[in-house]
Amino acid sequence: MIARKRASYTDTSVDARGLGVSRSGAVPGLLPMPIHPAIPILTTARLRLRDWRDSDLPAFARLNADPQVMVFMPKILSREESDASIGRIREHFDRHGFGLWAVEVINGAEFIGFTGLSIPRFTASFTPCVEVGWRLATEHWGRGYATEAAGACLGFGFSQLGLPEIVSFTTVANLRSRRVMERLGMTRDPADDFEHPSLPAGHPLRPHLLYRAASRQT
Ligand SMILES: CC(C)(COP(=O)(O)OP(=O)(O)OC[C@H]1O[C@@H](n2cnc3c(N)ncnc32)[C@H](O)[C@@H]1OP(=O)(O)O)[C@@H](O)C(=O)NCCC(=O)NCCS
Repeated sequence: MIARKRASYTDTSVDARGLGVSRSGAVPGLLPMPIHPAIPILTTARLRLRDWRDSDLPAFARLNADPQVMVFMPKILSREESDASIGRIREHFDRHGFGLWAVEVINGAEFIGFTGLSIPRFTASFTPCVEVGWRLATEHWGRGYATEAAGACLGFGFSQLGLPEIVSFTTVANLRSRRVMERLGMTRDPADDFEHPSLPAGHPLRPHLLYRAASRQT
């Protein structure tokens, strides 16, 4: 079973992971955010971004144990670590009304990975912020799925959440991920390059690049 601890919106005054969440569910500095009792479903031409199911766990664990998928992550994940990460993803949805959606192909594969919006837990010059991110199984690379799903997430973040900006970041060598950011129209300023604080000094994945997308309404 996916571990899921329901967050209480009525007793939350500050989100320790970054953005503050008021008792009404509003994020300071952003438009008032309604409380979401259920995970919203986003649909694109080919994809459905949906809530996680217990049946996703084995496929997600396979993806997280694939060295090719995880080459730019600090490590591959065990089955237990993979299952636990879904629990954290669902807590993020409960708390904020958005998160990393499970992605399925309409009339196709029931689960290909995740794409979504999340609030980074570390502190950097650009935090607090909302990040768009993705991780797909290798057999679904090269079809434009990540860009298509992430485009829907940006649209949701700007139009439904009223976010003024959404960022994305990756280690320098992750060219596939950088290409997704560029295809989305996100822009990079070298002045925003940063050392990821969760990785130790000298770690080869530590140097990161930041890409930004701004709401067209701002
Ligand atoms: C990052 C990642 C999601 C990118 O996947 P991807 O398939 O390269 O990216 P997209 O889904 O946007 O697909 C784009 C590719 O599909 C091709 N494509 C095929 N059909 C397409 C279509 N209908 N529309 C758009 N692109 C299409 C594009 O030409 C492009 O190929 P290219 O990069 O060889 O030129 C994937 O490599 C991944 O999951 N990596 C591991 C996890 C990871 O690193 N996450 C990011 C951490 S910061």
